[in-house]
Amino acid sequence: MATPYAGFMLLCAAVLTSPASAALKQASFLESQFLRPRSDVDVGSSEVLQKSYPILYKEDPNILHVTVMSSVHQLTLSVNHEKIVDVRTIAENITTNTVDFTPWDTSSGLYIMVLHPTSGRLMMKRVLMTQEFGSALELPTVLQSVTPGRILVMAVKNDASLNLSKKSRDFLTAMGVSSAIDLQFRQSLAWVGTVGGRVWAEATIQERRVKGSGQWSSPVTLEVDVPRLMNDVSCFNYSQNKERERASFCNKYEGYGQLCSCENPAPLQYRAPLLENSQIEDVPLIIIASNRPSYLYRSLVSVLRQAGGTLNRIHVMVDGHHQEVVDLLQLVQVSYTMHNATGVSRAARISDHYRLSLSTAFSLFPKAPKVILLEEDLLAAQDFFSFFNQTAWLLDEDPSLWCISAWNDLSSLHIAHDTRLLRRVETLPGLGWMVTREVAHELLLKWPSRYKEHDWDLWARSQEVMNGRECVVPDVGRTFHFGLSGTHSPGLLHVAFFAGRPVPALPYTELQNVHRLKMEEYEEDVIRRLEDDPLYLNTSLHPCHPDFIPRNTTGGRPVLLFIDMRTFIDYIAWKVFARCLGLWDLDTRASHRGLYNFFFYDTEVFVIGYPFSDYSYLKLPWVNVMEVKYISSLEKFNYVAPSHRFRFRRPEVEKMVQFWDVPKPRFDFR
Ligand SMILES: *[C@@H]1O[C@H](CO)[C@@H](O)[C@H](O)[C@H]1NC(C)=O
Ligand SMILES: *[C@@H]1O[C@H](CO)[C@@H](O)[C@H](O)[C@H]1NC(C)=O
Ligand SMILES: *[C@@H]1O[C@H](CO)[C@@H](O)[C@H](O)[C@H]1NC(C)=O
Ligand SMILES: *[C@@H]1O[C@H](CO)[C@@H](O)[C@H](O)[C@H]1NC(C)=O
Ligand SMILES: *[C@@H]1O[C@H](CO)[C@@H](O)[C@H](O)[C@H]1NC(C)=O
Ligand SMILES: *[C@@H]1O[C@H](CO)[C@@H](O)[C@H](O)[C@H]1NC(C)=O
Ligand SMILES: *[C@@H]1O[C@H](CO)[C@@H](O)[C@H](O)[C@H]1NC(C)=O
Repeated sequence: MATPYAGFMLLCAAVLTSPASAALKQASFLESQFLRPRSDVDVGSSEVLQKSYPILYKEDPNILHVTVMSSVHQLTLSVNHEKIVDVRTIAENITTNTVDFTPWDTSSGLYIMVLHPTSGRLMMKRVLMTQEFGSALELPTVLQSVTPGRILVMAVKNDASLNLSKKSRDFLTAMGVSSAIDLQFRQSLAWVGTVGGRVWAEATIQERRVKGSGQWSSPVTLEVDVPRLMNDVSCFNYSQNKERERASFCNKYEGYGQLCSCENPAPLQYRAPLLENSQIEDVPLIIIASNRPSYLYRSLVSVLRQAGGTLNRIHVMVDGHHQEVVDLLQLVQVSYTMHNATGVSRAARISDHYRLSLSTAFSLFPKAPKVILLEEDLLAAQDFFSFFNQTAWLLDEDPSLWCISAWNDLSSLHIAHDTRLLRRVETLPGLGWMVTREVAHELLLKWPSRYKEHDWDLWARSQEVMNGRECVVPDVGRTFHFGLSGTHSPGLLHVAFFAGRPVPALPYTELQNVHRLKMEEYEEDVIRRLEDDPLYLNTSLHPCHPDFIPRNTTGGRPVLLFIDMRTFIDYIAWKVFARCLGLWDLDTRASHRGLYNFFFYDTEVFVIGYPFSDYSYLKLPWVNVMEVKYISSLEKFNYVAPSHRFRFRRPEVEKMVQFWDVPKPRFDFR
């Protein structure tokens, strides 16, 4: 009983028979069940910044003259008087310098730039929008991915402080950025140091400015002479071709962590074991990429080092020509196709990229009956291929299914419950999914035009496309969304819905009752469980009340409740309900015939959308239906809830979840 395996079995048995015993859950097997923090160790090791300055570097009598300018509308970086970075505000109104809030554009934030210590060449440039809530989450990953000995330049454009957490400030302080701890609104800052070495210079001006008073901060310019290092001594073995290639890659680009580490370099070729008794041997994995090569690398590593992650099945579809992406893929010997997607808008271009990728995939792999699609900003759980291997056959046998998805929209920290459990949902969750050749062909025939404004995933979720069909999803998702750059309102969305998501840590989990996911069988099971003495919830408590759904006091009986839902897309009552319980609430997702089924902590919950749902017949006359009477009360919910992760804690799992370390929201909820 004390062994993790026994505990694990018990947890699963609990779902089938007596949920009361779920209370026996212990940290020991939770640890084996969920991903540990920073599981992407090959990518960024946490010690990098503490490592000492490598002695093999010799200082050159010559110097690199570095000039950094930080201001509201412009940021520049020059080396030996040659300007190598010049960022200016794009959509602003410079004439109205008296208005405190010009529109924030995506060029604002904390710039992290890396210079080669010998040539002074720019190796990396990233901007973290640390003025936005939660967007500093990437700070440690980005900084830890830089090789010791490189020259690191940090500078603020416009503002980096507004929502910069204490934790991030402490992190920067520990690195030697002395003004980080009390960096003020729109305070200009420039800083130069050597990774693992010394701080060369820092410049800032502390001004007393009142927020909203229309005052702008003064620009600062930092000029510093940094000793140049003698010809680059590379630690890689030059007598091996691949290692020479690595040395040349690492001499050019930065931000790849252990790929470029001297002490413990990541393998250039992973020897992924074969998937045992694989049913998906001829199913390729297509990675949809653009120009975020360090993201792509992390995503690739997550699939390359697991069973089934063999090079011959992996193919990357790149939108546009990006040399760094090409160099990376050649180094790790992953095949790729580049194409130029087009579209009337960003969303339409992404859609076009998807369309081209899907059609290219099936022509490149003419024998493939299905493909798995993954985006470059997703990490795959260790049993990613095994998950698809165990479920793939459902797509062949059940025409009412049109995809298997590794993502469950509802599966956040306090909802993720059982790694063996599967469900049917009438939506396309995406974010790591498998589709058959036939369905892909059908989609491609009606794919919206690139000349029309649209979002491909919204289109794919429409009734017109799904046409009554469903997807299979796991209770605990198999992908982790880590990408913050390149998305809208990245930090907020990330903190509210993605940061706390656990994924299974085991390389293999035997999925439970896969054959019961077929239409008839699934229906039988759902009806049996719904009719088997659930606890009807008839409460006058508001769904935001902490006792609305008991977390574990139902003696193992599932809770059944009704919310107002008139049509498939009617999510007004769901929105309030979901917001109150910390579930995805931006639209209606993850329902099955108007029924939402999930675990809220240890209580299984069935929410029936009444009267739309096919299960509405279960409503008893004395049971009330949760309604939202005043549509205006919804206005309060028209933003992403940053406080979810603080209201729905689960300490026993938190320490194992990536990115748990999120800043506390500064604004009050309720
Ligand atoms: C369930 O509730 C009991 C008593 O209310 C408590 O002792 C136990 O720790 C709870 N279990 C979980 C997993 O929360
Ligand atoms: C700049 O601001 C002024 C005053 O608010 C406004 O009249 C003008 O149209 C703005 N210009 C642009 C280009 O937005
Ligand atoms: C940042 O913080 C301010 C208040 O400090 C808040 O008004 C603003 O909405 C926050 N922005 C984001 C994107 O979280
Ligand atoms: C470098 O690679 C060569 C050829 O594979 C090998 O013989 C040699 O031992 C390696 N040197 C080191 C220091 O690993
Ligand atoms: C994409 O566009 C670029 C620049 O316009 C061009 O050089 C390249 O050949 C195009 N690639 C393809 C695959 O069409
Ligand atoms: C793959 O699927 C087959 C058939 O369901 C199963 O026997 C095998 O154990 C699976 N292997 C893995 C690693 O999931
Ligand atoms: C169910 O809830 C409604 C509204 O809160 C209440 O009027 C009704 O009496 C309740 N029924 C029972 C049996 O508790």
